[in-house]
Amino acid sequence: MSGQDKADCGLLAILGAGVMGETVLSGLLRAGWDPGQIIATDRRPERQGELAEAYGIRMLSNSEAVSKADTVLLIVKPQDMNDLLDEITTEIRTDALIISLCAGIATAQIESKLPAGTAVIRVMPNTPAQVDEGMATISPGSHASEEHLKRTTRILSATGRVLTVPERYQDAVTAISGSGPAYLFFVVEAMIEAGVHLGLPRDTATELVVQTMLGSAKLLRETGEHPTVLRERVTSPGGTTAAAIRVLEDHKVRAAFIGAIEAARDRSRDLAEAARRDSQTAADQAGHAGRIEHPGRIAPAGRTGHAGRADAGRGGERR
Ligand SMILES: NC(=O)c1ccc[n+]([C@@H]2O[C@H](COP(=O)([O-])OP(=O)(O)OC[C@H]3O[C@@H](n4cnc5c(N)ncnc54)[C@H](OP(=O)(O)O)[C@@H]3O)[C@@H](O)[C@H]2O)c1
Repeated sequence: MSGQDKADCGLLAILGAGVMGETVLSGLLRAGWDPGQIIATDRRPERQGELAEAYGIRMLSNSEAVSKADTVLLIVKPQDMNDLLDEITTEIRTDALIISLCAGIATAQIESKLPAGTAVIRVMPNTPAQVDEGMATISPGSHASEEHLKRTTRILSATGRVLTVPERYQDAVTAISGSGPAYLFFVVEAMIEAGVHLGLPRDTATELVVQTMLGSAKLLRETGEHPTVLRERVTSPGGTTAAAIRVLEDHKVRAAFIGAIEAARDRSRDLAEAARRDSQTAADQAGHAGRIEHPGRIAPAGRTGHAGRADAGRGGERR
């Protein structure tokens, strides 16, 4: 990213500097961002000290951070989102761009808790972002412009590739690239175990499998060839690979992947629906408690002030 691009992103606040927050933070610094251009928040004082020392960034309170920031990244767990939005809604700058990396929370749900017209973008990242090989999809909310999408792409490009998709695709995306690293690690585990069964030392089997996975991904990316073509090149008629593929087909591994990914997509929908219901319940309860809405805030009927904690048992951080 050029210096001008970084300057265009303005001051960036990361609210919730846990695993994913630190992934984004460290990726931006590796990409050459100035630590003075990033501020962050976290709930625990010891975590705040740790991050300030490790990265040389300023750690502030949520309200202080959003009052200064041009771009605000929300990176808390779904069950903490309502409380966070309630805490920042009166302080947030009306021209700020809000980027949520929170799984399963719709842009409409975030917009309904922030000042009318706030630009919101939803992101589904994945863990290879830790080594700058992430895959993030971004979806604009109803007030996000092309410029906001470009800004989000510039920020997330520090840790990998970025694709803009309609928000209705985000459950499918969660099932493919969000959860995807876990399926591939599962395959790696199974292949290592198979190597051990064949008598290879575990570290030798691990080296063989990991490099084969990395090399195959690189071959796919760099040649742009269809996976079927690349697989057929390794599959001589009547050969060793053909024997292995026949066993995989006998065990319906392809069908199992389709079923597994459909199950992840359905679970993502269920968690999103649970988060939406929790948010509505919390808002209704706050309404009954007679809280006063921030002056000038446009809110749906019954939604006032601090909504309280949503059910911590639902919509957890694991997908
Ligand atoms: N980790 C992943 O691989 C991954 C992948 C894709 C998407 N995501 C999404 O990223 C989000 C964060 O996940 P994570 O794994 O990074 O979780 P995490 O490690 O628990 O990080 C969240 C951090 O936010 C802090 N926090 C909570 N409420 C706060 C508040 N009101 N103000 C300031 N800080 C607050 C938490 O503090 P405490 O420690 O006190 O709770 C914690 O340090 C989730 O919505 C998840 O869906 C994560």
